[in-house]
Amino acid sequence: MEERVQKAMFDYFRLEGQAAIVTGSGNGIGRATAIMLADLGARVMVCDIEGDSAKKVAEEIGGRGGTALYNRCDVTNLEEIRDTIGKTAEAFGGVDILVNNAAGFGGGKTFDRMTYEEWDRLIRINLTGAYMFTNEVLPYMVKKQHGKICMVSSGAALGYDFSDPHYAASKAGMIGLAKELSQELAKHRINVNALGTGLTDTRMAHLPGRSWEDETKGLPWHRVGTPEDQAAAIVFLVSEAAEYITGQVLCPNGGAWM
Ligand SMILES: NC(=O)c1ccc[n+]([C@@H]2O[C@H](COP(=O)([O-])OP(=O)(O)OC[C@H]3O[C@@H](n4cnc5c(N)ncnc54)[C@H](O)[C@@H]3O)[C@@H](O)[C@H]2O)c1
Repeated sequence: MEERVQKAMFDYFRLEGQAAIVTGSGNGIGRATAIMLADLGARVMVCDIEGDSAKKVAEEIGGRGGTALYNRCDVTNLEEIRDTIGKTAEAFGGVDILVNNAAGFGGGKTFDRMTYEEWDRLIRINLTGAYMFTNEVLPYMVKKQHGKICMVSSGAALGYDFSDPHYAASKAGMIGLAKELSQELAKHRINVNALGTGLTDTRMAHLPGRSWEDETKGLPWHRVGTPEDQAAAIVFLVSEAAEYITGQVLCPNGGAWM
């Protein structure tokens, strides 16, 4: 690529040297986001409850010439969250970017078949996990008076892509949290936005009995999203190009809803 164009791209995003944590980045959208951030010069902590998957992604980033660390981290475990953030700050001199991406799914449970235990489990991973990670990362961002947080939510929170009630509730909670935090944290120059993720080809979306062909037919773009489609939007939201955007929900969905 011509040097002038490459410089313009790097200047537009201004991600070079920034320290980023992407939760649940051992697979799918989180993996694609970690790779894209590292390709644009960010230093990335790849963390996941699946430690081996996180290790593989960090190695892949290293193989592409990027900088990444990895850590096993279950977002429901406060000690593991603190350990992950501590290792990131120590290696990279702080934390600039947090992508709350880790999530579990309910597997197509309707309200009448859902149990209290299933409700608690999913809310704890998807919503409380994002809350705890954000809360633990904030002192580093406040200290720098700079930070970018993205909550990876879902069309399920916005009345589209109906799925499990506990999943939809957890993802709607993430949007509420992003909006509220955007107001509280603006004075510290910390942007908080959410992704209203559309249907994306990852293992989470491949439910037994779901017809991928039918899903695709109903979409204006005539294809489901790729992890890279979502990663591109996340990377934009956590980059300096999005300096004036906060409290918003961006929905990469091929026109599925407006
Ligand atoms: N794929 C879709 O169609 C779709 C649609 C809407 C929203 N989303 C959201 O996108 C995000 C990424 O999902 P994906 O589609 O890439 O699925 P995925 O299953 O490929 O990735 C989810 C990752 O989260 C990790 N994870 C699960 N529980 C965890 C925990 N307790 N602690 C740490 N990591 C944990 C998994 O190991 C996995 O690597 C999720 O927040 C999901 O809700 C996906």
